[in-house]
Amino acid sequence: MVILGSKGHAKEILNVFSYNEEDSHLHFFDNVSKSKEPMVFQKYPVLRSNEELRRYFKQKDNRFVLGVGNPKVREFLTILAESLGGQLNSVISQNAIIGKHETKIEAGVNIMHGVIINNSVSIGKACLINANVSIHHDCLIGDFSEISPAATITGRVQIGTHCSIGTGATILPDVVIGNNVIVGAGAVVTKSVESNVKIAGVPAKPI
Ligand SMILES: CC(C)(COP(=O)(O)OP(=O)(O)OC[C@H]1O[C@@H](n2cnc3c(N)ncnc32)[C@H](O)[C@@H]1OP(=O)(O)O)[C@@H](O)C(=O)NCCC(=O)NCCS
Repeated sequence: MVILGSKGHAKEILNVFSYNEEDSHLHFFDNVSKSKEPMVFQKYPVLRSNEELRRYFKQKDNRFVLGVGNPKVREFLTILAESLGGQLNSVISQNAIIGKHETKIEAGVNIMHGVIINNSVSIGKACLINANVSIHHDCLIGDFSEISPAATITGRVQIGTHCSIGTGATILPDVVIGNNVIVGAGAVVTKSVESNVKIAGVPAKPI
């Protein structure tokens, strides 16, 4: 299994694999950072070029998970790794509580420690649901969106694709958020929001 990325969020993904006791054969991939360290934590090898990644997928293991948070970068890396023969996988903490009824989770998600996903929730492809987020009944989260730590998504909320919901934000019931929306840390979103806007504050307003 390859974690795409080797820095911040990638290290948190490693923590999930460790907690789940699945961290024995991990590699990282990072072809952008200046560091040329061959290992993460002196233990996990880092693949440093597309060619190395292609070879690893072909000869060893074609599974990868996303180790970055930004929705656009998550999509970019998914397309890149799939073009090199990789297969997108999910990583879900065993410390997360996920509803057993009508809950649908697409491929390639990151579900971190302490998450609560209730019944009748849909989580789109390659979403990041970060630590201690709670998502309540009848919510829909669009592909590649990122819900930052400790955000609360209350009942019947819809969030579009490629959104970033800031840490500790609260989205009130029935709110519909468009695509590509950025919600600031700590915001309280009381009304529906169109696509391509950045909002923050209590109550949240465009900034
Ligand atoms: C909302 C946000 C995206 C804005 O970032 P930005 O476009 O770089 O905006 P700036 O920092 O230039 O701030 C613009 C204005 O909004 C205000 N502002 C920024 N973030 C705010 C927030 N979360 N709540 C209220 N006001 C905020 C700033 O004080 C500033 O106000 P001013 O013009 O009166 O000085 C960012 O501040 C934020 O909250 N990001 C969430 C980060 C996060 O949760 N990451 C999780 C990582 S796991």
